Parts: sequence; structure tokens; C-alpha cells
Amino acid sequence: MDIKTAKILVVMGGTSSERDISLMSGNAVLEALKGRGLNAGGFVLDGGNAAQILQKNPDCVFIALHGKGGEDGTIQGMLEIAGIPYTGSGVAGSAVCMNKVLSKKILAESGVRTARYISVSPGDDFCAEELARNAIDRFGLPLVIKASCQGSSVGVEIVREETEVSGAIKRVYEYDKELLIEEFLPGKELTVPLLQKPDGLFAFPIIEIVSENEFYDFESKYQPGMSHHIIPARIPEETAAEAVELAKKAYICLNCGGLTRVDLMLGPDGEPYVVELNTIPGMTATSLVPDSAAAIGIGFGELTEMIIRAAIEK
Ligand SMILES: Nc1ncnc2c1ncn2[C@@H]1O[C@H](COP(=O)(O)OP(=O)(O)O)[C@@H](O)[C@H]1O
Ligand SMILES: [Mg+2]
Repeated sequence: MDIKTAKILVVMGGTSSERDISLMSGNAVLEALKGRGLNAGGFVLDGGNAAQILQKNPDCVFIALHGKGGEDGTIQGMLEIAGIPYTGSGVAGSAVCMNKVLSKKILAESGVRTARYISVSPGDDFCAEELARNAIDRFGLPLVIKASCQGSSVGVEIVREETEVSGAIKRVYEYDKELLIEEFLPGKELTVPLLQKPDGLFAFPIIEIVSENEFYDFESKYQPGMSHHIIPARIPEETAAEAVELAKKAYICLNCGGLTRVDLMLGPDGEPYVVELNTIPGMTATSLVPDSAAAIGIGFGELTEMIIRAAIEK
């Protein structure tokens, strides 16, 4: 397939809580692809119109959806069956990375360094007070409690007081019947964008993220000025090499493809730990991945074209 003539459809919107972010990513990508002279059009996904994507008969789909119904393998499955190339990870990688409990279990089983945890799966019978006691005994305080299938820091709580742990578990349980209680990582927050190329996995420069808030919460992610991207990250060279190595290992064992952003944090030992993988990272002009690419002279338009190429060459 020739990228110059291929009919590209940028799919955005969707019905998840991250719809607005997706529309921003999608429109930015669409403009950038058009700016490269490529044959690109947009498609806004709403509840019920997914089949129309197939009727448009695209040669390649750029998936700019975030969250449930877009980042979780469902759209990927539809395109896979229809034989249409698409950007990003396949069905399994998308589904697993969307679920923090499942990806945590695979990372831990594969020997990828990640924060110690206790998980609750749907249908598990548990007592929040007992779970809180157990987590405090094993990991101390603070503790991080997260809903399994949310994003953008929605359903993430960092608890510092012993008396507040069980209440936080109950609150997060309201979001999601599947959740994680994690050991707190006190160090720097890092992210490594990885892109599959024909000659191997390419790592863009590591970004260090500094938030104005207590952690990288919803406001610091999307409110201009509430977080800062420092490139390259201010960490020792060996730690940087270790972070890239760990990110690649996580990408491979979770079956990722295309562009995926691996988020890490430094632990009490100064070593990097994998926090989560984002199979469809934000692609607005101020998002993390475009910033990292810009640091090595790759502009937003060139980056979007690289992502399409990775999908076509797959
Ligand atoms: N184990 C941890 N220790 C300390 N902070 C954490 C930990 N896990 C997550 N965080 C903080 O919470 C934020 C959101 O958590 P994350 O797992 O990335 O969920 P989301 O999918 O909502 O981005 C992270 O960016 C980080 O600032
Ligand atoms: Mg995150």
C-alpha cells in the first residue's frame, strides 16, 4: 500500500469519559495528516455508528479514541475481522493494557519491575477494613488505590492516613468492581514512548513529568501549566537505560503494537517501576508523545505519518 494515495480515516470521539480528549487528539491528527498532503478524513464515533467506519472503506484507520470502546480492543477487533490495517496495538494488547489488574498480573508474572499490589476482581467477596489492614501491613503508607478500567487519573486515590484507607477502597469500588491497591512509589514520574518499526522497537526520549498538584491527576494532565515535561529526564544515564529496557520488556510481554507510551516511576531504591501502558496516548499538540518526538526534531506531522507507516508496514 502506498501511503501517498491510501485513504486514511481518523476515528475519534467515542462514548467513554475521555471523549473530549479524543476529539482533540483526533482533530489534531487529522489536520496534521492533511498537512502532510495525505488523503485523510475524519469520523466521529457515537454510540451505534461503528459499522459506518467499514462502509467508508478506508485503507487504514488511525484510531484516536481513548478509554472504553476504543482503546480496549473492541474497535480493533472489528477492523481486524474486516481486514483493515489500523494504528496501535492489536486486540489482546489493547484489551489487557486497558485493564490495570490484568496487565499488573502479567507484568508481575513476566518479571517486569512494578509496584507490589493487592487486587480485587469482579465477584470477589471482600471486607474493605480487612483489605486495608492487610495492605498497610504489607506496603505501609501511603497507599495508591485505583479503579482497574478508568483513565486520566479518574478513580485513582493516594491515601496517607491509616484511617482513610478503607473509605478510599469503598469509593474506588463504586467506580469499578475491579481494583488495585498498590505500594506508593516516591520517585520521579517518567514516560517512554515506543514505536514498532520494521527494524525493531524505537524509543523516543524519556520525559520526566512534574506536576503542580500532589500527583499527576486529571487537572495536571489537561490544564495548561499544571504539569511540566522535562526532556531529557533528569536521571542518571544507567537509570535511563534501565527505564527504556523495562519499557520495552513491558511492551513486548503485554503484546503491544504501533505507538505505545509506557509510564514509569522511580521507587524507593531509585530503580524504575512500570506504572501502566497507554496503547493510545494523547496526541494533542501539547501531549507527552509529540513533545518527546519534537525533542529529537520530529514534528507533529511527521510523527502522525510515522504512526500510519507502522500500521501499514505491520
Ligand atoms: N504506585 C504509585 N505510587 C505513586 N504514585 C502513583 C502510583 N501509581 C499511580 N500514581 C500516580 O497516579 C497517576 C495515575 O495513575 P495511573 O496508574 O497512571 O492511572 P491512569 O490510567 O488514570 O493514568 C500517575 O500518573 C501517578 O502520578
Ligand atoms: Mg497514567
